[in-house]
Amino acid sequence: MPGSCSRRSDVCADRNLAGSTLEGTTLEDWAQRYIESTDLDHKLAPPPPPTAWRQPTPAPKRLVSAGRPPELEVVARAPRSPTRSQMGTPKRRAQLLHTFLHHELQAAELMCWAILAFPDTPRAFRQGLLGICQDEIRHMGLYRQHLVVLGHDVGDFPVRDWFWQRVASCERPLQFVALMGMGLEAGNLDHTKRYEEWFREVGDHEGAALQRIVGDEEVAHVQFACHWFRRWTGDDDFENWRQELVTPLTPSMMKGNELDRERRGRAGFSGEFLRQLENWQPS
Ligand SMILES: [Fe+2]
Ligand SMILES: [Fe+2]
Repeated sequence: MPGSCSRRSDVCADRNLAGSTLEGTTLEDWAQRYIESTDLDHKLAPPPPPTAWRQPTPAPKRLVSAGRPPELEVVARAPRSPTRSQMGTPKRRAQLLHTFLHHELQAAELMCWAILAFPDTPRAFRQGLLGICQDEIRHMGLYRQHLVVLGHDVGDFPVRDWFWQRVASCERPLQFVALMGMGLEAGNLDHTKRYEEWFREVGDHEGAALQRIVGDEEVAHVQFACHWFRRWTGDDDFENWRQELVTPLTPSMMKGNELDRERRGRAGFSGEFLRQLENWQPS
């Protein structure tokens, strides 16, 4: 899914961001450049973000897709994830890590997307989105390192832009934190716990450690979303949250087979919320 800029113009713009014309560049420009870039190096290690925000507050900008480096083959339906019994095969573990890496990339891009889409939110909210974006980029780098250890690299497996297809339809910041932080990232707390075990039982201790590190660091991202959801609605009521999920998403897509109650509790979910999440059934 190519972005709106050609590879050549993208490289030029990247050079501008990193070079002498940095003065006058705003954080919003940086965010848009990150989304639209089609340069893999830029996706993995963008230049440091500027500190200035655009003044006066810009109009909302809602990008519908992200630039994709030529190394990445984007498909409508990604191959099935490896099962537990396939985890002993390095190639299958690499495939899984490649999927996780692409999740991190989309998360980083979508934090930038929200900075541009919701310019009227408090500065502290958008500053928090930037911090999370930088964490996701770092996670991407960690996944890439282990991918290389397993004899693979970015682009060895096709990817699917599923997060973009869903999250970019959020119309309000409340929907964004409900879906991204309290939904997808919270679900990842459950998933990383399970995969940590799967990596460990086939003797891939580095892969297991990676799952633990990423899972632990995602707690703060979920906490951020819970904080703003409570601030904007007054509580973290399960039904309110469910109603903020954009169609056709449901709570069952936002959790693992088993909830990581410890991490979810640390992130700020109440026991009652988790009880309802665990018991929720489609009507
Ligand atoms: Fe992450
Ligand atoms: Fe995250």
